[in-house]
Amino acid sequence: MHMEYKRIKMNSIVFALNVVATVVWCAPRRCEPGDEILGRCKASVEDKARCTDLLLGYCDDMPYVKTIFPNILDHKSMQDAELGTEYLLLSVIHSLLNGECTPDIRMLGCSVLAPRCEKDRLVKPCRSTCESVRKGCAHAFEGIEMAWPYFLDCDRFFVSDEEGCYDPLEGLREKQEVALASFYPEEPGTIIQFTYHSNAQMINILKKTAARCSDIARTYSIGRSTEGKDLLIIEFSNNPGQHELLEPEVKLIGNMHGNEVMGRELLIYLTQYLCSEYQLGNNRIQTLINTTRIHLFPSMNPDGYEMASSELEGNSDPDNEEVPRYNGWISGRANGQNIDLNRNFPDLTSIAYSRRRNKRYRSDHIPIPDSYWFGKVAPETYAVMKWIRSIPFVTSASLHGGDLVVSYPFDLSRHPLERKIFSPTPDEQVFKQLARTYADAHSTMANADTDRCGSSFASKGGIINGALWYSFPGGMSDFNYLHTNCFEITVELGCDKFPAEEELYMGWQQNKEALMSFIESAHRGIKGIVKDEDGNGIKGARISVRGIRHDITTAENGDYWRLLTPGIHILTASAPGYSKVMKKVQLPSRLQKAGRVDFVLMKSVLEPDVDDFSLPAMGTYDRFDPYNQFERYSMSDLGENGEERQEKPWWWAYFAQSGNSAPTWLLRNY
Ligand SMILES: *[C@@H]1O[C@H](CO)[C@@H](O)[C@H](O)[C@H]1NC(C)=O
Ligand SMILES: [Zn+2]
Repeated sequence: MHMEYKRIKMNSIVFALNVVATVVWCAPRRCEPGDEILGRCKASVEDKARCTDLLLGYCDDMPYVKTIFPNILDHKSMQDAELGTEYLLLSVIHSLLNGECTPDIRMLGCSVLAPRCEKDRLVKPCRSTCESVRKGCAHAFEGIEMAWPYFLDCDRFFVSDEEGCYDPLEGLREKQEVALASFYPEEPGTIIQFTYHSNAQMINILKKTAARCSDIARTYSIGRSTEGKDLLIIEFSNNPGQHELLEPEVKLIGNMHGNEVMGRELLIYLTQYLCSEYQLGNNRIQTLINTTRIHLFPSMNPDGYEMASSELEGNSDPDNEEVPRYNGWISGRANGQNIDLNRNFPDLTSIAYSRRRNKRYRSDHIPIPDSYWFGKVAPETYAVMKWIRSIPFVTSASLHGGDLVVSYPFDLSRHPLERKIFSPTPDEQVFKQLARTYADAHSTMANADTDRCGSSFASKGGIINGALWYSFPGGMSDFNYLHTNCFEITVELGCDKFPAEEELYMGWQQNKEALMSFIESAHRGIKGIVKDEDGNGIKGARISVRGIRHDITTAENGDYWRLLTPGIHILTASAPGYSKVMKKVQLPSRLQKAGRVDFVLMKSVLEPDVDDFSLPAMGTYDRFDPYNQFERYSMSDLGENGEERQEKPWWWAYFAQSGNSAPTWLLRNY
């Protein structure tokens, strides 16, 4: 059904362009300079301006039938108005904005291009109408990275009530209010459309939601995809934009494989759900957002998604029965350079394995080897690496499709020749607990009678060690664990990578509680601050747990989080130049909040432990500053100054071919 809708929409764009093209062909010759003197053109009509019939096709639903030329933009005739980019924009605006803010925008534009005429006098539209449309629709334009069109400048082309204006949307308002009232009978709950969303629609929803919930949400971009699409993230927190002391940070990533799409939609729905429920006073959601910083990244691979969805669209054509739909095997898994992003991260797991016989080895904060930068690094991978190094994430889930199971690191087999072998991290217990949190809260994942797409994970409660399932190097989860403090699980949301649209709502119902529980589980284990004697937080201090060869380091202000399973643990805090402090803690089972364990470290002149030699020196670790390297080896399309080439947005093609001078006023930051 959704595909059907899309095709109709595409047709309407083509249709709109055809109309314009026809007009161009049939239009009478315009006055060339000099023609007027030669008498080839009619004299200016300005002094005998009269009301004339409003014949512009895209303005035929205005609440008046007479217009006048020259219009407010000083087009001398209807043909002039019709040939301009302004009118072209109005003819395609419905498609460009995916139906948002239309017909409002179109009618507002018509009130300037074909203004109302009464008694042979032009009547200007109201500034107040313009301002309210602008307020409500600015985000739709931002969503497609288009500037607010100059001819909708409320101050320049619109006037106040006192100057005698009319409301060009008057009739529309009444109609819409009636329609809305019958559609949503006083139910203020979340209205989520359980459909697929194009990249533009997704960006639009994220930005609009952030605007609607501006106290608790913010969007930010971590870079661009191979084909230049924004890698946009929405963050929820009671203090968006900032890390708060002791507040854990969580990330959820969807659509890393472009053809695995359920996770992408779940995160779009979750965005709307969190915003609405917070505003409605849902206590659980408010508590969660007040105490957690949540980052949702619905599409890590928007280029792959575009490929997958366009391929499906072709295949679902009822006239085209020769192309069967192979579940899950549509293309679009890889990014725009044909790189599988979940194989493209530095393989730190092999490094960890090669060191594991060393008695003092620690499987954390392993630096990225220089050799990595000689290979091909996808811009999406690069953006994510930079992102996860810059924020002290505690937990993460990467949402995939093709099976129904939660898998956890390591993904690379510890035996070079055995492909399916149990390869646990030192934090096996914690990872199992995290994976179970998701699987148990999912409505079917842990059940024995669930359809498993041929695999048999049921006996394990719907969770599995990644390498035991199948081994691969360069995965994102292994990288998170070995390079940062973040624990990431991989969630396979169902057998079908690109399910029918009708299944999206059920997917949301099945996963909603699991997503919530998973985010809440960042509050397990212990957290605290490592300080010096003067009470200043120490950055980069290590928290070690006896028996687990994996340290956690403190963030900027000395705060740390250490996920742990219930029981007794012996902790040590250490930092170069300070003496170590050891503490024994007991974590009760059923602890709902992280236990608080602070440390105060004394300055020490003693040499740090010599047997720390196998720990990576912080210097090497910090040397990521990959920008230079990245530029040298992979980013050939960066400009000479290392700046991104200014790409024209996707909608530019609509206007570039119109024969008018390029409407640079539609470009933002131009
Ligand atoms: C969350 O924080 C907001 C703003 O400080 C406050 O009004 C609200 O009561 C808090 N809600 C909960 C459940 O803590
Ligand atoms: Zn996948």
